[in-house]
Amino acid sequence: MTNQLLPKPVSASRIQLAQMMQPEHANTQGNVHGGWIMKLVDEAGALAATRHAGHRTVTVAMDQMVFRHPIHIGDLVILNAQVTYAGRTSMEVEVRVTAENPLTGERRETNTAYLVYVAIDEQGRPTPVPPLLTETPEEEARMRAAQERQQRRLQQKQEMEK
Ligand SMILES: CC(C)(COP(=O)(O)OP(=O)(O)OC[C@H]1O[C@@H](n2cnc3c(N)ncnc32)[C@H](O)[C@@H]1OP(=O)(O)O)[C@@H](O)C(=O)NCCC(=O)NCCS
Repeated sequence: MTNQLLPKPVSASRIQLAQMMQPEHANTQGNVHGGWIMKLVDEAGALAATRHAGHRTVTVAMDQMVFRHPIHIGDLVILNAQVTYAGRTSMEVEVRVTAENPLTGERRETNTAYLVYVAIDEQGRPTPVPPLLTETPEEEARMRAAQERQQRRLQQKQEMEK
């Protein structure tokens, strides 16, 4: 079936979330719990995907997450999410996580994650999403890389199902 929806630019669904890390977000070492960051990443990714789709979305896959630096209590965590690829009903979203010390202004890029969401209709069935319109060479390059990642995910899925 061909996708009849009008293309939407990457910029239309790009989103930034920020949250101050509080004591309740700590792990036993006193830094921020990695699971809390994964939750925020999924929320930011879902918001960008939902904006693009104009439908509710569910997370179908999350690639590996590597934490390059610890995040401290009192840091401001900033999440930048953008759709990098849209298939028929699925979308890949890139989420970049930055931690800022609000006292010094020092910023560290702590991790980047790629997640796949599927738009669903009222019955919970996958439903078509608008094609993604890239407007810059960077967005075009990101989309090509995202297409390759999605091909690899689907190959892995096939191998696991064998
Ligand atoms: C998402 C879900 C509705 C998809 O159902 P499905 O029967 O696999 O549907 P399809 O085979 O038509 O796949 C839908 C899309 O997801 C993509 N997809 C499916 N599995 C995937 C995977 N492992 N990785 C990446 N993409 C995947 C397909 O390629 C397809 O994309 P396209 O339409 O752009 O080509 C279903 O798997 C589901 O409900 N999963 C649980 C989601 C959830 O609850 N998440 C929160 C966890 S707590």
